[in-house]
Amino acid sequence: MSMPKEEGLDHSLAFLKEGYEFILHRRKSFQSNVFETTLLGKKAICLGGKEGAALFYDPDKFIRGGAAPNRLVKTLFGEGGVQTLDGEQHRNRKAMFMSIMTKTHLQQLDKLLESEWEKTSEQWEKIDQLTLYEESQKILMKVACDWAGVPLDDANKRTEQMRCLFESPAAVGPAHWKGRTSRSKAEDWIAGLVEQVRNGNLHATKEGALRVFSEHRDSDGKLLPVRVVAVEVLNILRPIVAISIYIAFAALALHQFPGERERLKKGDGSIRRFVQEVRRFYPFFPATMAKVKQDFEWEGYQFKEGTLTLLDLYGNNHDPHLWEQPDLFRPDRFLDWKESPFDFIPQGGGDFDMGHRCAGEWVTIQVMEVSVDFLVNRLQYNVSEQDYSYSHSSMPSMPKSQMILSDVQKTSN
Ligand code: HEM
Repeated sequence: MSMPKEEGLDHSLAFLKEGYEFILHRRKSFQSNVFETTLLGKKAICLGGKEGAALFYDPDKFIRGGAAPNRLVKTLFGEGGVQTLDGEQHRNRKAMFMSIMTKTHLQQLDKLLESEWEKTSEQWEKIDQLTLYEESQKILMKVACDWAGVPLDDANKRTEQMRCLFESPAAVGPAHWKGRTSRSKAEDWIAGLVEQVRNGNLHATKEGALRVFSEHRDSDGKLLPVRVVAVEVLNILRPIVAISIYIAFAALALHQFPGERERLKKGDGSIRRFVQEVRRFYPFFPATMAKVKQDFEWEGYQFKEGTLTLLDLYGNNHDPHLWEQPDLFRPDRFLDWKESPFDFIPQGGGDFDMGHRCAGEWVTIQVMEVSVDFLVNRLQYNVSEQDYSYSHSSMPSMPKSQMILSDVQKTSN
């Protein structure tokens, strides 16, 4: 049987224009969770729905090596990182990441974050207004470094480097190249620290990523190359700083859905459900990608070895077959969510240990919970008139004015 296929030579421009909704639009018009298209001159298969996601996360069917475009590897991921590994190498590296996600270590992160929110918001009382996206990045960078055992030499410079890593993958021209330069500078910085940990000149905390990753041994019993450790430590620091995007979206939701804010304040609503709905509702990553490992057939369709395959992350979170009225912001939908690993997938799906699901999903939820609690219960502020719109095509997307807050006052605990 032949797969539903988009006519035309290449659809890369449509992908750029329709952005997050590119795959879902076509899934709806083909009435199919699988279709074929052409991106950057190459055949690509798009998958969606729960079954499509379950297929995508079958390691016997898909591999990651060689799937990610170079511009992503050179900015967001870094070379030799966990995202690009398969099989035993991936299992070993992923276990290294998950080993720092223990309950006690995550509780430490909570404490660091609460204390940094406290300190920083005191400073906010002294200024007229601030941009939440930018300010929360400074908080997150400090917390991420403390948590990872990384001594932060120049907070502003390093925070800016982290931001460039996640703002630049889809950018064109100088903004993209700034991302590449930021990567090499940030890797140089962390690589220097890894060497100091290894030769005993830096006593990084025992549970932090810097020490754990520097001492980690791969499946052959060897220490990882210094540059790879740097890439993996940045795989902790960078995405923690990127949670600033979700914090800006959470502040937008609190502003645009004041009823939900009231419920949180009164204790009627749940911060967890609010945070989950922010992650479901707002755009972050449109899709993730892999390559067909070897020829196979699924639902009568042929998948040929080496074919690029995209999984519709944003689309599954907005799929009307999976969510009632998906375009409404309604945190209480999570009251009766059945917790499938394949429907709610803003940070990937499937299994944490065996698959490529985001290693930092618990960190993200926790950081957002602490931050939303602070915004609702510990601060009073005005939201100035500004551009609240956000794009469905630029990546990453965020509220255009990045959430400008004014007259911030702390309330008593
Ligand atoms: C800011 C919010 C975040 C979003 C939207 C996000 C999203 C994602 C997505 C979509 C993937 C790929 C899943 C796949 O390809 O199947 C991923 C992987 C990953 N994420 Fe996150 N993430 C976030 C935060 C974090 C945090 C805070 C950390 C670390 C503390 C982290 C560490 C990782 C790592 C190490 C991987 C690679 C996992 C693997 O390949 O096995 N992420 N994330």
